[in-house]
Amino acid sequence: MSKVIVTGGCGYIGSHTCIALLSQGYEVVVFDDLSNASKESIDRIEKITEKRPELYRVDLKDKNATIAAFETHKDAMAVIHFAAYKAVKESVEQPLQYYENNLFSLINTLIALQKFGINNFIFSSSATVYGIPKTCPVTEKSPVSTAFSPYGNTKKIAEEILEDCTHSNAEFSIISLRYFNPIGAHKSGKIGELPNGIPNNLMPYITQTAAGIREQLMVFGNDYPTKDGTAIRDYIHVMDLAEAHVVAVDRLVHQKQENNFEIYNLGTGIGYSVLEVIKAFETQNNLALNFKITDRRKGDVPVVFASTELASKTLGWSAKRDLNSMVKSAWDWEKNYRNENS
Ligand code: WQD
Repeated sequence: MSKVIVTGGCGYIGSHTCIALLSQGYEVVVFDDLSNASKESIDRIEKITEKRPELYRVDLKDKNATIAAFETHKDAMAVIHFAAYKAVKESVEQPLQYYENNLFSLINTLIALQKFGINNFIFSSSATVYGIPKTCPVTEKSPVSTAFSPYGNTKKIAEEILEDCTHSNAEFSIISLRYFNPIGAHKSGKIGELPNGIPNNLMPYITQTAAGIREQLMVFGNDYPTKDGTAIRDYIHVMDLAEAHVVAVDRLVHQKQENNFEIYNLGTGIGYSVLEVIKAFETQNNLALNFKITDRRKGDVPVVFASTELASKTLGWSAKRDLNSMVKSAWDWEKNYRNENS
């Protein structure tokens, strides 16, 4: 059975990707420092798949510990690298923590991979690298612009580091996956997003408001040049995103890549406004959400959604789940989690 190491595998997207990998017969080993996620994710993955990934607790900022960790699993066929801090606002307040964590972890991981000849690497990137796109849908050829935040800059710099690594080592193959807006949860309701503290992202704030954890959702601006004035994003179901990572691993493990540094947008190609997401959430879950319109949030992009052509044509992957499935699964998880912890 091919072994895949998932760094940051206890996190939201990482844990859902472990489920998709295990369901496809891969052996999964999770490297995580548990600074931003709980080892409970491993229990949740086991409950859903009846297979338990090994958890290797390691701080990837520590070079020697990272090398020791990869030496223990140097027979891995591929590595998916999720381990990074990802809160935009926090990155503006603490830039050095973001550069240190996100870049040192990546560099130490790459040094270990080179040392043990693990040559298949999938990188968790983000649509933030496009900044404010000039046109939509955004393609992989759209210019990568000055990053909007230190978080986005770490993703941009990381992709530049990765590209250099492929120039110096022809054996090393990389697929960088640029996520649009991942939301929702596994259909079992047994795992989902668990933000630390007050959620920055829209969907967890919506579900926590519906659960009564938050008083009221603030809709950041309704004076954008869009159909209803609220900003538009390309929301993608986290399980569609997870399955795309398995397709990417398959591609490298079976050496189907066309070159050794490939980039793919992971979105649905459909843009929804904040009010459309709220409406879908209310209708699908048969509830009324308490929200009000407030000022714009600094740094927000008015409209961004993906071109999905390259992923569909070359990876043979496209998102299957619709907005209703996203908002239903997000709410099912929130309700289950609150029941578990009541
Ligand atoms: C979505 C829309 C907000 C919260 C971020 C990161 C990006 C990626 C995805 C990691 C926007 C509006 C939000 C709220 C609101 N993360 N909103 N009230 O900003 O598109 O992207 O998450 O890769 O890097 O930047 O996502 O969920 O924060 O916002 O009105 O309480 O919802 O203005 O229009 P965003 P988001």
